[in-house]
Amino acid sequence: MDSTQVLREHGFDLDLAGEAQLNDMKQLREEFTRFMMLYKFGIDEVTTKLSILQEEFSLVHDYNPIEHLTSRLKTPESIIHKVKRKQCNPSFDSIRASVMDIAGVRITCSFVSDTYRVFDMLTGQQDIRVVEVKDYIKNPKPNGYKSLHAILEVPVFMSTGVVPVMVEVQIRTVAMDFWASLEHKIYYKYNKDVPANLVGELRAAADTANQLDLTMERLHDEVKKFEQSSVV
Ligand code: GTP
Ligand code: MG
Repeated sequence: MDSTQVLREHGFDLDLAGEAQLNDMKQLREEFTRFMMLYKFGIDEVTTKLSILQEEFSLVHDYNPIEHLTSRLKTPESIIHKVKRKQCNPSFDSIRASVMDIAGVRITCSFVSDTYRVFDMLTGQQDIRVVEVKDYIKNPKPNGYKSLHAILEVPVFMSTGVVPVMVEVQIRTVAMDFWASLEHKIYYKYNKDVPANLVGELRAAADTANQLDLTMERLHDEVKKFEQSSVV
């Protein structure tokens, strides 16, 4: 399929468009494809780094601090929505500078200590630049949301040279993730206006999730101590 066909499928009335306009559309389309592709490669870079850490850590320590790894590329609709909300200029350069979560990677760990361990292992790498960190584990949001967020800049090596790409990384425990998934669904079900009783119950559920994390961490520590003491 050539770009003319693609443009037609996207609703451009090519019969009415002039030659210059057609070229503009093609150029814009190519620029957009390249723009999104870089974020996809940014995700690939970060997930490869994490897979290596996961495999190496399992081999050396006989233990895997990462339970689950997911990633997502923001949809064009969602990018446009954020551009409007942030009232930023709709040029590629200004979107690049102000929308920092086009590429997203979420890491789920079993224990709170592992979230910081994974964060340190990842951000300690020479080619990663930490742009911003929001520690909602130490400082939870008022609704009870907990997670460790970081905007990282990673180098993507293209044929024309190296391009730095921003990737948002969210690190949390299984319990925090379980809570956040349900809260997210409820938030959108009620169109961002969650009834007070549900807000209260979600807050209480976040405390329960936190208690579970504390208990699991303590049990995990006890098992570790037992293992160490039984090594002769
Ligand atoms: P943006 O400009 O939208 O990026 O705002 P921000 O940078 O202040 O966002 P923040 O780093 O606080 O959150 C970014 C992402 O974390 C969101 O897109 C969600 O995926 C997640 N998140 C943040 N707060 C909540 C919350 O209260 N509940 C849930 N379920 N997810 C949240
Ligand atoms: Mg953000």
